Amino acid sequence: MGSKMLQIVWGVVVVLGVVSSLGGVECRKKSTRVEESLEYSAISCRAHSASISDFGGVGDGKTSNTKAFRDAINQLSQYGSDGGAQLFVPAGKWLTGSFNLTSHFTLYLHKDAVLLASQDIGEWAVINPLPSYGRGRDANGGRYISLIFGTNLTDVVITGDNGTIDGQGAFWWQQFHGKKLKYTRPYLIEIMHSDTIQISNLTLVNSPSWNVHPVYSSNILVQSITILAPITSPNTDGINPDSCTNTKIEDCYIVSGDDCVAVKSGWDEYGIAYGMPTKQLMIRRLTCISPYSAAIALGSEMSGGIQDVRAEEIVAIHTESGVRIKTAVGRGGYVKDIYVRGMSLQTMKWVFWMTGNYGSHPDTHYDPKAIPVIEGINYRDVVAENVTMAARLEGIAGNPFTGICISNVTIGMAKKAKKVPWTCTDVAGITSGVAPPPCDMLHDQGPEKIRMCDFPADNLPIDTKEVKRCSYRMNYSS
Ligand SMILES: *[C@@H]1O[C@H](CO)[C@@H](O)[C@H](O)[C@H]1NC(C)=O
Ligand SMILES: *[C@@H]1O[C@H](CO)[C@@H](O)[C@H](O)[C@H]1NC(C)=O
Ligand SMILES: *[C@@H]1O[C@H](CO)[C@@H](O)[C@H](O)[C@H]1NC(C)=O
Ligand SMILES: *[C@@H]1O[C@H](CO)[C@@H](O)[C@H](O)[C@H]1NC(C)=O
Ligand SMILES: *[C@@H]1O[C@H](CO)[C@@H](O)[C@H](O)[C@H]1NC(C)=O
Ligand SMILES: *[C@@H]1O[C@H](CO)[C@@H](O)[C@H](O)[C@H]1NC(C)=O
Repeated sequence: MGSKMLQIVWGVVVVLGVVSSLGGVECRKKSTRVEESLEYSAISCRAHSASISDFGGVGDGKTSNTKAFRDAINQLSQYGSDGGAQLFVPAGKWLTGSFNLTSHFTLYLHKDAVLLASQDIGEWAVINPLPSYGRGRDANGGRYISLIFGTNLTDVVITGDNGTIDGQGAFWWQQFHGKKLKYTRPYLIEIMHSDTIQISNLTLVNSPSWNVHPVYSSNILVQSITILAPITSPNTDGINPDSCTNTKIEDCYIVSGDDCVAVKSGWDEYGIAYGMPTKQLMIRRLTCISPYSAAIALGSEMSGGIQDVRAEEIVAIHTESGVRIKTAVGRGGYVKDIYVRGMSLQTMKWVFWMTGNYGSHPDTHYDPKAIPVIEGINYRDVVAENVTMAARLEGIAGNPFTGICISNVTIGMAKKAKKVPWTCTDVAGITSGVAPPPCDMLHDQGPEKIRMCDFPADNLPIDTKEVKRCSYRMNYSS
C-alpha cells in the first residue's frame, strides 16, 4: 500500500455547543468540533481515542501543555486493560515539558503538529542515572528526564504522519558548552525496561542531546524517522539502542552532530555489573550525514556486550567514518558477530575505524584488567568515494581485535588522501577483493575463505513481527 493511503482525510467541521468528551473536561464557551479519519499501520490498534485538545491543550506555541499531556495520559491509562488508547495531537504548536507514557498506548502526531520542548528547566524532573552508567553522561549524578519518557511499559506506539518533535536544543547546547548544567541533558524519547515499542513516521529536530534512546528493552521497531540537528551540535546522536534485544531500525534519515546510530550497553564497571547486552539488532536503509562522527558506532559504552548486529543498505554522505568500533581497557564486555553489507559512502576520513584506546571513563574506579573482546567483525559490498584513509584499525596491545573479515570493497581515494591508505595495529583477520589493498595483518586470502563470513541468512524475530492497519474516526475540539 502506498503512503497515499495513510493521508489524513479531513472531515466536516461542525460547531457544537457542548463538549462531550472522554475525560469529562469542563465545557468551554464555544468549541469547534472537528471530525477526521486516520488510517495507519502499527503493531497494535487501540479501542479508545482522544485528542490533547479535549484535555485543555492549546496549540498556540505559547501555552504550556505539560498538565494537559499528563492529565490526558493519566486518564487514558485506565483503558490499558480495555483495548488501549490513542492520544491524538492535532495540527498546531504544542509547548510542553516532559510527560510519561503508559502501556497499551499510542501517541499520534498530525503531520502539522509540532511538540515544542519547554525551555523552563523547572519542567524537567531530575531522575537517577542509569544503573549501567553509574552517573550521568554530561555530569556526575542525576539527569533531566527525557521529553517523552516511559518505563516498565508494554505495547507503546509513538507515531504520526511525519509530525514533528522539536527539542529546542540551542538553549541546552549553550548551557552545556558554558559548563552551566548541574545534570545530564534530556533526550527527546527514552523508553526504559519496556517491551514491544514502535517509534515511527516522525521528524525529530534539535534534540538537547541524544534523540531516541531505548534502554533495557526488547522488541523495538524504529521506522521512517527523520532526525535533524546542526552538524556541530553536541552529542545529538540519532538512535541509541542500549542494552536492548531484538530491535529493528529502518528507513531513517539522520543529519546530526554525533553518531547517526550508536549501539551501546553500559559503561565500565557499572555496565559490567549490570551485564545487559545489546543483541539482535537490524539496521536497514539508513541515510546519515554527520561530518564529525560515524554512520554506525558500536560503543564506546559497550560493557554489557554487543552481539549480533546486522546492517545493510547504509548510505553516508559526508561522515567522519562509516562504521566505527570504540572501546577501551576498563570497559570489559564484547563486540562480536557484527555484519555490515551494502554501504554506499561519499566523503569521509575513514571507511572503517576501530579504536581500542577510546578512554572516556565514568570515574577512576574502572578495572584495568577488564579487557573488551572484539571478534567476528564482517564488512562486505562497500563502495566509497572521496576517502582520506580506507581504514584505521587500532586494537588493544596484547589483546588484538580478531576475526575481522572484509570483502568486495572499493574505496575511491580523495585527491588529498593519506599516502598509506590502511593502518593496522593489534588486529587479525582476512580480506578478499578489497581496493586499495589492505594492510598485511588482513591480507587477501581469496574468495573461498571469505565465505564463512557471510551475512546471516535467518531473520531476527522482529523482522517477522506483524503490523496491523488501524483506522480511527476522530471527533475532537479544535
Ligand atoms: C510511514 O512512512 C513510510 C515511508 O514514508 C510509509 O511506507 C509507511 O506506511 C508510513 N507509516 C505510517 C504509520 O504512517
Ligand atoms: C515519570 O516517571 C519518572 C520515573 O519513574 C518519575 O520520576 C516522574 O516523577 C514521572 N513523572 C510524572 C509527571 O509522573
Ligand atoms: C521496572 O523494571 C525493572 C527491571 O525489571 C525493575 O528493577 C524496577 O523495579 C521496575 N520499576 C517499577 C517502578 O516497577
Ligand atoms: C518528513 O519531514 C522532513 C522534514 O520536513 C522531510 O525532510 C522528510 O522528507 C519528510 N518525510 C516524509 C516521508 O514525508
Ligand atoms: C560487490 O558489491 C557490490 C555493491 O557494492 C554488489 O553490487 C556486488 O554484487 C558485490 N559482488 C559480490 C560478488 O557480492
Ligand atoms: C571531497 O572531500 C573533501 C573533504 O575531504 C570535500 O571538501 C570535497 O567537497 C569532496 N568532494 C566531493 C566531490 O565530494
